[in-house]
Amino acid sequence: MRLNVNLGKNSYEILIQRNCLSQAATELNLKRKVLIVSDSGIPTQYIENIAGQCENSVIKIIPQGENNKNIKQFTNLCNVLIDNNFTRTDAIVGIGGGVVGDLAGFVAASYMRGIDFYNIPTTLLSQIDSSVGGKTAINMQQVKNIIGAFYQPKKVLIDPDVLTTLPERQKVSGIAEAIKMATTSNADFFDFLLQQDAWQNIEKVIAESLKIKISVVEQDEKEAGLRKVLNFGHTIGHAIEANFSSELYHGECVALGMLYFSSKQVKEKLKIILHKYGLPTEIALNPDLIYKSILHDKKAEGNQITIVSVPEIGSFELKKISINDLKTLLIDA
Ligand SMILES: NC(=O)c1ccc[n+]([C@@H]2O[C@H](COP(=O)([O-])OP(=O)(O)OC[C@H]3O[C@@H](n4cnc5c(N)ncnc54)[C@H](O)[C@@H]3O)[C@@H](O)[C@H]2O)c1
Repeated sequence: MRLNVNLGKNSYEILIQRNCLSQAATELNLKRKVLIVSDSGIPTQYIENIAGQCENSVIKIIPQGENNKNIKQFTNLCNVLIDNNFTRTDAIVGIGGGVVGDLAGFVAASYMRGIDFYNIPTTLLSQIDSSVGGKTAINMQQVKNIIGAFYQPKKVLIDPDVLTTLPERQKVSGIAEAIKMATTSNADFFDFLLQQDAWQNIEKVIAESLKIKISVVEQDEKEAGLRKVLNFGHTIGHAIEANFSSELYHGECVALGMLYFSSKQVKEKLKIILHKYGLPTEIALNPDLIYKSILHDKKAEGNQITIVSVPEIGSFELKKISINDLKTLLIDA
């Protein structure tokens, strides 16, 4: 299946197809210098598969993990490009999860003010969410994604077969983002996820999630308003992540975060679907710590914050609330 992201001169195509990794040379322009960026957790056969289709590639493997989405790795990758005389007509291919995609995308956005970037996401989270929409970034001073750019890829190749090597808990973490998008934007898709087995229908799950993301991004590429809906579950989720990063995965934090700011009826349905997929629904939180982490998060705008609330499945409201009201909401939750 092919989906288009229509953003004027920044438009691009997403191919969702089993084994499409092997077709990279026909789908992407690899007849130039290509920097392949991946991480130490990605099975080497995927990297070799792409490298084997390039005429002139340089491979750079960063250590796996969120901590490596940093300025040091950014600098290392820029040095590789300079040392190998990459020009503005060359390209970067990212093969990996959101860490590789965000970092490699930001390097592509920055080098010579922008060179072509192809994204080949290999986690479920990156296939249904982070590989599309052009948000690239690194973390700095413990603040997630604080330095970055909006920079759309030239093409995205999604091969569901690569999920066979992804650890179970990473897969489950990715499903949280599909549930997030269904909850705010598509009640039928929510019912589908509730009634059917997502793993048996993974191509549909990827495609339906991406259709929601694409529609939002096309209307609001640079997050002036509507795109904030994609942050459903993330305001609290990021704060939980900041305090439980060694215990919980991103999707698990988002799952917990979605249970705030939803109506009672939505919360009940969310608990059922999260439980079905093995995602957490309860955690003992210290409201003070969570509140402090939210203040630290870049999404706090002055003394206000925009929260996404879901009055019923398939709908959402963006609300600006004061930081003080947020504290009260957290204590009452
Ligand atoms: N740009 C965006 O719009 C956006 C949206 C959501 C999240 N993100 C970012 O995405 C990042 C999280 O991404 P993630 O959840 O993909 O984590 P990740 O990139 O850290 O990958 C998780 C782990 O899985 C391993 N892995 C990846 N693919 C594999 C495969 N096919 N088989 C075996 N192992 C594999 C990796 O080596 C890594 O250890 C965060 O930095 C977050 O900020 C960005």
